[in-house]
Amino acid sequence: MSSHITVRDDDYVIDQNWSAYTADDHAIWDFLYRRQVGILKDRADPAMLRGLETLNLNRGGIPNFEQINIELRARTGFEVVAVPGLVPDEVFFNHLANRRFPAGQFIRTRQQLDYLQEPDIFHDVFGHVPLLTDPVFANYMEAYGKGGLRAMKFGRLKNLAALYWYTVEFGLIETPQGVRIYGAGISSSKDESIFAIEDASPNRIRFDLERVMRTNYRIDDFQQTYFVIRSYDDLFRATVDTDFAPLYASLADGETHPADAILPSDSIVTAGTQAYAKAKSSA
Ligand code: PHE
Ligand code: FE
Repeated sequence: MSSHITVRDDDYVIDQNWSAYTADDHAIWDFLYRRQVGILKDRADPAMLRGLETLNLNRGGIPNFEQINIELRARTGFEVVAVPGLVPDEVFFNHLANRRFPAGQFIRTRQQLDYLQEPDIFHDVFGHVPLLTDPVFANYMEAYGKGGLRAMKFGRLKNLAALYWYTVEFGLIETPQGVRIYGAGISSSKDESIFAIEDASPNRIRFDLERVMRTNYRIDDFQQTYFVIRSYDDLFRATVDTDFAPLYASLADGETHPADAILPSDSIVTAGTQAYAKAKSSA
């Protein structure tokens, strides 16, 4: 018998194989979904919460991509495709550039409920997919994919990765209700969802494209700095309407900023005490 999962080496897309998820896999999704929605109710951007409802991501159990995609395609022309896990940069950019979001097919185990290193279906679908219902954000993601392919030619992937990190993964947005979460790395994490909004230790700095692209980031701890956008429109205009070529040229020999830096030129929303980072490093 041939395997149900066929790996296509060109784009890494596999069958989601939805019927193969176990009852426990579905129960893990339901548990995480309920827990996270409770935490995000007053902390996430309302647009993200609306996206969760629009796509019916709480219909019970792990979402079936075929069902999500009907609604998603109608809204923004995006679709979710299943991949085994992390894919090479070029493959990732190519999917985004063609309005496909590659999502990990597997779900974390009960031993990894609060943290795992590789993006699973909960991080990818709960975290990333709701905002793909927003036309402006969807356009940003497509442009980012195209920008990624371009950045590879310039050898400036590190700078472009910092932009993704501080927006798509760990971005905050100003809303009439106050500063809210839109980044998927935050919204899919129980503890960082609370930390990013409530904790006094991290810096919250107004988004500035060049500043962000020069900033290092930590992948092993909560962020020491979050960048706050005013709107997806603002983010879109600052990135999509800017030709990065001259920027890459100037970044090539420019300095980079530590993840916890505050610069004289920063427009600060809240200056962090960095108490958390200090407590961690002295522990
Ligand atoms: N405008 C960028 C460029 O010229 C492309 C881009 C758009 C990159 C949006 C990131 C996000 O390369
Ligand atoms: Fe992610």
